[in-house]
Amino acid sequence: EARVHDQTLTRGAGGEWHQTATDQDVLTTAQGTPVADDQNSLKVGARGPALIEDFHFREKLFHFDHERIPERVVHARGYGAHGYFETYQNLSHLTRADIFQRSGEITPVFVRFSTVAGSKGSFDLARDVRGFAVKFYTREGNWDLVGNNIPVFFIQDAIKFPDMVHAVKPEPDRAFPQAQSAHDNFWDFISLTPESMHMIMWIMSDRAIPRSFRFMEGFGVHTFRLVDAEDRSTFVKFLWKPKLGLQSVLWNEAVKINGADPDFHRRDLWSAIQSGNFPEWELQMQLFDQDFADSFDFDVLDPTKLIPEEILPPLPVGRMVLDRMPDNFFAETEQIAFMTQNVPPGIDFSDDPLLQGRNFSYLDTQLKRLGSPNFTHLPINAPKCPFAHFQQDGHMAMHNPRGRVNYQPNSWGRGPREDPRRGHRSHATEPTGPKQRLRPESFADHYSQARQFYRSQTPIEQRHIIDALTFELSKCEMPMIRIRMVAHLMQIDRAMAEMVAEKLGIDSMPHPADAALPAQDLPLSPALSILANG
Ligand code: HEM
Repeated sequence: EARVHDQTLTRGAGGEWHQTATDQDVLTTAQGTPVADDQNSLKVGARGPALIEDFHFREKLFHFDHERIPERVVHARGYGAHGYFETYQNLSHLTRADIFQRSGEITPVFVRFSTVAGSKGSFDLARDVRGFAVKFYTREGNWDLVGNNIPVFFIQDAIKFPDMVHAVKPEPDRAFPQAQSAHDNFWDFISLTPESMHMIMWIMSDRAIPRSFRFMEGFGVHTFRLVDAEDRSTFVKFLWKPKLGLQSVLWNEAVKINGADPDFHRRDLWSAIQSGNFPEWELQMQLFDQDFADSFDFDVLDPTKLIPEEILPPLPVGRMVLDRMPDNFFAETEQIAFMTQNVPPGIDFSDDPLLQGRNFSYLDTQLKRLGSPNFTHLPINAPKCPFAHFQQDGHMAMHNPRGRVNYQPNSWGRGPREDPRRGHRSHATEPTGPKQRLRPESFADHYSQARQFYRSQTPIEQRHIIDALTFELSKCEMPMIRIRMVAHLMQIDRAMAEMVAEKLGIDSMPHPADAALPAQDLPLSPALSILANG
């Protein structure tokens, strides 16, 4: 007799192990049939062959064979926790969102932190953006604030997202590098995409190698709208501030930690929560009106720009505490489906072209990843408020309408009806203009905020940025890519560009990049031309 995981195993006459239930229920198949022997398949004689009649064996292997689902196309590696959000004050003068109507209101949340580029099994401390996705289970539907730990993004238009992600991910012929940006395809794309320069400064900074999830800020990135009961709208940017402050590791530490403990960030969150050390963030809002938007130096719809907190101090509106790990990683952290389009009444979108594209992409991708339009039936995705609709059927339907009525209006006086007073209404804007594919002039300045960020860093932090750029670009085999990047850096900060160039062995500086020119057309001196062409 032996004990394994509270089960008693006994050895049979032939030496085989048998598992018998002790204090647990009897083992059954998925059909509920009690199982007599889960250790030995049904065979002819003692040594086989095996019999196809063995339905328990076939069901067990069948289910195992189908355990994997596609990993997320981005943000595949992540780790989540349950918690709650506590509203500080009534914001009904700004929004009718139910979550912001009562001081002290408690709303359950689930948060998933992630890296972007690496696969599900990659290491935690890659130099990368961190996802910071929060699902609020409000009394008027789920609100997903699907943010990052960096306040800006690489691109201005969603149509560029597949190119950007293809360039970040492993190169298609060699399938490496797996979880880092240091490769030709990535830097080629970046050097040809001047709008990414602000984001690149953040990615090369210490922000991209956080000490743990608990020491990170979070940002909704885009401008959203709050809408009150009279359809008056206020623009808003959402920010999360960690109670523990910000901390990062050094690159040398990151490299060692990844080797020694690829689960460093997971372990940190797990240990903190299991030991009662609950991490906490404050939700803040930068609020502004159309006059502010018109007078601000940049376009508030451009997701490669932020609004400095010195110019627009954020208003603290609540706090979030993470206090419970999931019971099951797959059921909760893996199957949670965040979607930017999940907004309750009182929260609305701006016309940011990246946000508009995301609002299509997330719903689309969940069908592929979770395999059924009924993914909202999974407990982690289902609203925790009452819900009623006439959607039916499809794979794995669990909430089909009851009875005769599955449409409306109907003559039976039954079933849910829309309610113009309570329902989500889009803020009534009046967009005008020709139908065209054009990037607005107000999106054109790609360097000023990159410079502002670089110059806001302390000398040590600036050195880290220079070291990161040098390390990353030194991995690029094609000299032209390095030169193009140095041309951009010259527009950001000449001294930084010169230091990076020197470390890379580029001794004749290129002309500063002209964001208005296609980057392929970079004019080069004869000496650089020889270097660039190898
Ligand atoms: C995940 C698309 C930009 C934050 C994803 C996923 C897709 C996607 C398809 C996988 C979702 C899943 O399988 O569950 C896009 C597109 C973008 C974009 C098309 C731009 C056009 C952004 C931006 C942010 C962001 C700007 C941050 C503000 C996230 C996060 C996740 C994610 C945090 C992981 C969610 C989770 O933990 O499950 N994105 N994304 N994405 N995206 Fe984006």
